[in-house]
Amino acid sequence: MKNKSLVSIDDYTKEEYLEILRVASEFEKNPVQNILEGRVVATLFFEPSTRTRLSFESAVNRLGGRVIGFTDSSSSSVSKGESLKDTILTVSNYSDLIVMRHPLEGSARYASEVATVPVINAGDGANQHPTQCLLDLYSIQKTQGTLENLKISLVGDLKYGRTVHSLLMAMSHFNPTFNFISPEELKLPDEYKLFLESKGIAYDEYSELAENIKDSDIIYMTRVQRERFADPLEYEKVKNVYILKNKMLEGTKDNLRVLHPLPRVNEISTDVDTSHKAYYFPQALNGVFTRQAIMSKILGLR
Ligand code: CP
Repeated sequence: MKNKSLVSIDDYTKEEYLEILRVASEFEKNPVQNILEGRVVATLFFEPSTRTRLSFESAVNRLGGRVIGFTDSSSSSVSKGESLKDTILTVSNYSDLIVMRHPLEGSARYASEVATVPVINAGDGANQHPTQCLLDLYSIQKTQGTLENLKISLVGDLKYGRTVHSLLMAMSHFNPTFNFISPEELKLPDEYKLFLESKGIAYDEYSELAENIKDSDIIYMTRVQRERFADPLEYEKVKNVYILKNKMLEGTKDNLRVLHPLPRVNEISTDVDTSHKAYYFPQALNGVFTRQAIMSKILGLR
């Protein structure tokens, strides 16, 4: 089942991204269909989630399928010492598809190798969040009319932000220019910079926010990932480093849209919410249609 799973955004080609976005736009026009009737999707969340889990569950329910799973591994037999392998093999018996979030990087790849049904990675530690990435691509395409040749400012926790890592890999197919805006402690890891350099993608790194977003088409804000810090004092030092305020959007391009995978803590002031440039709540809605498209591709339903 390895090949049908979605673990990393680079499991798919550029053509596959575009096909998923096209199908997502069809689901947006017609989100209630019965194509998952008789199918069971398991959602195994070893870490908290609001959007990813609920948008998957909404997507399944609207397509006539059923959902089983847990939102807290302490309510499963993991708390008795059951291994991830045994959990995945067992849940494979009960479902047609497993959606899993887990704190360990590489856990989703491992699960996809032992499962007897396809696995969708709903976030593995600081590594990858491919379904968020596809809904981000959908949101960018919808607001900009294209994915090509855009200037994208990625702001905040670029070290631990898995959505950033997936997004820059996917966007590398579309000739972007990146601004990476972060404090020193949360800079983009070298492996991702080397990846971009190998593809000839231009990027700049900054530590200041307001002055470096003026020519952006997309500002992608991120939360500082408190749960990834070994030392709480290190988190305290950087937790409020960037707060995007409405005033900072003065002089930015009219087509600029502010995205955020959410949840936000305080990195976007609520005074931005009423700006026509704020797009983070419609972005979360796009997760339903995009995940409908991903599941229908993986299960071969269209
Ligand atoms: N964007 C995202 O992954 O949100 P949740 O943590 O609420 O699922």
